[in-house]
Parts: sequence; C-alpha cells; structure tokens
Amino acid sequence: GSGRLWGGRFSGGAAEAMFALSKSTQFDWRLARYDIAGSRAHAGALHRAGLLTDDEHSAMITALDQLEAAVVDGSFAPADSDEDVHGALERGLLEIAGADLGGRLRAGRSRNDQIATLLRMYLRDAMAAVRVDVADLIQALHTQATRYLGAPMPGRTHLQHAQPIGLSHHLLAHAWPLVRDLERIRDLDRRLAVSPYGAAALAGTSLGLDPEQTARDLGFATSVANSIDGTAARDLAAEAAYVLAQIGVDLSRLSEDVILWATHDFGYAKLDDAWSTGSSIMPQKKNPDVAELARGKAGRLIGNLSGLLATLKGLPLAYNRDLQEDKEPLFDSIDQLLVLLPAVTGMVGTLTFDTDKMAAQAPQGFSLATDIADWLVRARVPFREAHEISGACVRYCEAEGIELSDLTPEQLTGIDPRLTPEVLTVLTVQGSIDSRNGRGGTATERVREQLDEITERLAKL
Ligand code: ARG
Repeated sequence: GSGRLWGGRFSGGAAEAMFALSKSTQFDWRLARYDIAGSRAHAGALHRAGLLTDDEHSAMITALDQLEAAVVDGSFAPADSDEDVHGALERGLLEIAGADLGGRLRAGRSRNDQIATLLRMYLRDAMAAVRVDVADLIQALHTQATRYLGAPMPGRTHLQHAQPIGLSHHLLAHAWPLVRDLERIRDLDRRLAVSPYGAAALAGTSLGLDPEQTARDLGFATSVANSIDGTAARDLAAEAAYVLAQIGVDLSRLSEDVILWATHDFGYAKLDDAWSTGSSIMPQKKNPDVAELARGKAGRLIGNLSGLLATLKGLPLAYNRDLQEDKEPLFDSIDQLLVLLPAVTGMVGTLTFDTDKMAAQAPQGFSLATDIADWLVRARVPFREAHEISGACVRYCEAEGIELSDLTPEQLTGIDPRLTPEVLTVLTVQGSIDSRNGRGGTATERVREQLDEITERLAKL
C-alpha cells in the first residue's frame, strides 16, 4: 500500500511536485485519533448493514485498537508516501488487518465526509480546552477585582479623564467579554454536534448505513440533514475562527491597558518579575512582553479568520480541494491561544496596583464636573443649564490652576448662587463613585453584585 487511496484509473504515479503540493500529513496528522474513532463507528455501521460479519467486525475493531495504540506510542507515523491522515491510517490498517479485511472499511464513506466529521470532532475538543483557559483568566480578573474592591481610579473616554471609577469595575469590564466568549463556545458546540458521516462524497450512501446511529456513536447529537451541506460547508470552521479571533481581540484590549498602566508615566500597575522581561542593553527595563505578544497575536488570529473566509468565498458546491486549506489557520489559532492564555492569566493574576497614585489621579482633569451637573439636576435645575454651570466651574478652576474638589463654598456661590455648600458632598471621588449606584454602575455595592453575577454565570457554563 502506498497510502494513496485512488490508484485504480491512473496509469502512472503523481508528479513529485503534484504530490508535494497535495500532501497534508504534516498538519492533518493531529486528527489521527479522531479518524480512528470515526473508523470504529463506521465499522459498526457496516456491521449493522450486514456488510461486515460478526467476526469481521470484531477483527476490524481489534485492528483499529492496535493501530491506535501504535499511533499513540509513535510506532506508527505517516510515511513520505502518505498523502493525508486518511491514507496513512488505511495503510496502517492494511498492514495490521490484511488487504481483505482492511480493504472493506472504506465502503460507503469518502474522505469528504470523513474530514468534515473529524474537523468537527477536533473543534469540539479544542474549543473546550480553550474554554478552560479562558475561564482561568476570568477567575484571575475576578480575584484581582475582589482584592482591590473599593479602590478608585480615573475612568477614561478618548483616553482622557472622564469620571472616577472603581478599579474593580474596570477589571470586570475586561472579564465580561470573556464570559460572552465562553457563551459563544457553548453556542457553537450545539452546531458542531452534528455529524457529516454518511454524507459520503456528497450525495449520501447507497449501502443502507444509518448516519444517525454513527453520529451518536461518535458523541454527536445528530447527523446532517443535507449531505452536500455536510461535506461542503465550513461556516462552523469560520465561526470557530471568529470566536478564537474575538478572544484574541479581548486579550489584546486588556493587554493594552496593562501596557499603559505599567508605563512610568501612568505608574498604576507593576508587573511581576516572572511575567515580564528585561532588556539586553538597558539595565533598568522591565517590559510587558506578555501583553505585547497578546496584542500582536490578535492580528495573527484575525488573519486566520479572514484567510479562511477568503478561501470559502466563491467556492461552488460541493467538496473542493480548496477546503484542505481550512485546517492550518484553525490549528494555528488554537495553538496560539493555548500558549497565550495561561501567560496572560499569570500576568493579570500577579499585577500589583499603586492604589494611592490612582486615587490621587482620580479627581484630576475635572473628572467631577458631571457630579456638579447631576447634583444641580437633583436640585431641579434643567440639565442644559446645569451643564453650563458646571462648565463655568471648570473654566474658573482652569484659570486658577485648581481642581473642582478645591473649590470653596464662596467660590462656588460666586460662580452660581444655586451652587450651595451642599454640592461639596459630591465633589469627592468616593461621593462620585457611590452615587453611580444603578445596576451596572461603578458604586462599590454594585460591583460586589457583579462579582457574584460572574460567579453564577461561570457556574452555568
Ligand atoms: N485532505 C483533504 C482535506 O483536508 C481530505 C479530503 C480530500 N478529498 C478529496 N476528494 N481529495 O480536505
């Protein structure tokens, strides 16, 4: 056996460059155990259809078990002459079971339904592994948010000081997209749990096999309703690539904050030695390489998604060899995240924050201006007017070189008589934060609720 599955109508072998182009064992071998699992289920289908006797069936299963053991211990590996994972494994099966028995397994299936099924099986497992690592990162953010509960910081829009917020509120704002990523993985799994096995090349099989039973044997919920769709569609592969890219983007945005916070100029956060690197020339440096690699890899994950979509666009039905290009970008996105996520979790979990510096900066840049306006609104002043009055306070402070919290009662009534001394109660960072106490707000009591809500959501996933 040459590991080639299609010799019959050909008089000569493939040209060397043709074979080099066609070959996929260097990346599809990671699907070998899924292929063997599929073969076991398929042997059962052939047996139930009367195409394998009881003895042949049990000999086939024994041979497949033996082949799997050889794959696992490395004694069986693809040869140079093998085109793809399917061909290599058939060669292995023939070696173990002999040509008569081994040669019966391919009846009623095609590499087209095989590869579509294996990819779904692989993705279900791989996405579950990513899920575990994402959950760990959410937990690290949750733990830090608990540790720093009540610590204020400047909240920013346009990177400018906007309003004071709780550090925990900000950390949890990075946790929520990751919670949704976990929900995306769960939702995707419902669609992945549909088996293409039995679709054969594109039209289904004439051999009386039961795809539903094969699907259940492989841990799928059901089998595809349309054999053409089952072999030709890769929208689920693209969806997985999207979820992986979205996780990359979420890590990148978190990382960008860490990079800024760790600068001398911000000075909000310190990176632990174990999760940062030095410079070969500048002895003082401590660089946020984990965060930078996260930001960089996000670009790569986006590239994998857009490359896959570009491959799919314009493909006629049903199977086309272009589809072989689906695997490398997906495998790469998964491999990258499985290396990246534990490092980001380590970095986040060991960050220490300079809470004094953040508290001191929280009221700067006139970030309490909205609190003056809101206070006036509660005193029945229309917001348009309140906005003007608060703006006048900012103008006054800017001219005097002071902050809003420095304003004296005399200065306040001088700006507008409606600014009675009671306004001073909201002109503090704590007063400002505590006053934002609607659901989802930055008030510490609400952030405490968020911590519980994340724990509950994670428990349900
Ligand atoms: N290596 C192929 C892939 O990854 C398997 C299916 C090949 N089918 C075929 N008819 N050439 O898509």
